[in-house]
Amino acid sequence: MATSERSKSDSDVPAEFLRVLKRAGILSESRLADIRSKVLAGDYPIDSTEMARKLVKDRVLTEYQARRLLSNRPGGLIIGRYIILEKLGAGSMGRVYKAQHRMMNRISALKIIAPEISNNQRVVARFQREMRLVGKLNHPNIIQAFDADKDRGILYIAMEYVDGDSLGQRLRSKGVIPPETLAEYASQAALGLQHAHERGIIHRDVKPSNLLLGTQGVIKVLDLGLATLHEADEDAQFKTADGVAVGTIDYMSPEQACGRDVDPRSDLFSLGCTMYHLLTGRLPFPGNSPVERLGARITGAHVPIPSVKPETPRRLVEVMDRLLANSPGDRYGSAAEAAEALHSVFQKLPPSPARVPAPAEPAPTPPRPQPPQIKYVHVTPSYPAWFQPIARLAEGSAVGALLLLIGLLLLAFAAGVVVGFLI
Ligand SMILES: Nc1ncnc2c1ncn2[C@@H]1O[C@H](COP(=O)(O)OP(=O)(O)OP(=O)(O)O)[C@@H](O)[C@H]1O
Ligand SMILES: [Mg+2]
Repeated sequence: MATSERSKSDSDVPAEFLRVLKRAGILSESRLADIRSKVLAGDYPIDSTEMARKLVKDRVLTEYQARRLLSNRPGGLIIGRYIILEKLGAGSMGRVYKAQHRMMNRISALKIIAPEISNNQRVVARFQREMRLVGKLNHPNIIQAFDADKDRGILYIAMEYVDGDSLGQRLRSKGVIPPETLAEYASQAALGLQHAHERGIIHRDVKPSNLLLGTQGVIKVLDLGLATLHEADEDAQFKTADGVAVGTIDYMSPEQACGRDVDPRSDLFSLGCTMYHLLTGRLPFPGNSPVERLGARITGAHVPIPSVKPETPRRLVEVMDRLLANSPGDRYGSAAEAAEALHSVFQKLPPSPARVPAPAEPAPTPPRPQPPQIKYVHVTPSYPAWFQPIARLAEGSAVGALLLLIGLLLLAFAAGVVVGFLI
């Protein structure tokens, strides 16, 4: 609604919208006063929808916040020290939001755990123990967790925000991932997992939606330490024969599916299942029901990769088959080893070093060539008799001989002049 043509009074201000905005607690008092005075001055529309649109345009509110306020749901836009900016997604454990720290302005991803899980004291205690370990992780291929807390009964985790899609979202939007790209992504994920394994954390829920693809092709492993929320949840949707509740079964290792203790190699199996799905668009252990799919991994081998995607490079098939080995002992010994194998699948082999013959016994040193022997022979030149006194003098003193020669020539010249004069 146009507002500038008529003068405003306090009664014109959209009190309800401003009240909702104030109740949300996302803007400071001074910001609210500023908005109020702009409405009175006619700079902001009176109509709630128009005003919300204007506030979004001026970057005072996000679209998500504006929608919540317009539908009169201001509660929940502040969680702990964070202002909720937008919803990023939802999973089996709760919802994920983009959020801003109120004091530090840092942008984070906030995962809010569903109340069915967070109301379980046993789960929360276990989760807190795991979070103490997770808080120490710091690796470029892991989403770092900054903070975990319970605010007014809401359990949340604040973590590094990555502007990108998960590989699960990418599979849905763009289709399967080419082998070379996939090997590189999986290698990065394995490096992140290795970092966690070294610090005593097993992921237990490696799957496409838990691998985030950030800028410049960096893969970040998500949700480390959160599988504990599934495992200890008595009310989880699916339980193994041992009563161990589990999350997604399609990427689960046989030992995990049986409820046995797991070690880092369980994550390698899940990484293999994740790769299989991202490469082929199919699950390695298909079945019509969760029980069938679970049973398939316990009792048998995965559907051979070449039968689903024949053009897969043989070396990649070998690496994936090893990740997907039924027995942990047949898989790679560590995530670092798997990362190296994945990384090297498409690496050009370095040129084989030129073969250098083994050093032979040192050859005997040849005798040094002797310099030619020069004989100096004294040669006595033969001169006419009249020149011999001069030659002898020259041998003794070259300068003396020269002076004597010049003197003789001058003498001959003078004699010639005298003779000429007399004649
Ligand atoms: N740190 C983050 N930065 C950016 N986006 C994130 C982050 N964490 C999660 N997301 C987004 O939120 C979506 C939902 O994540 P969530 O982990 O809840 O789902 P899920 O992995 O499918 O389920 P679950 O892990 O609960 O089994 C993700 O697909 C991703 O798009
Ligand atoms: Mg997740």
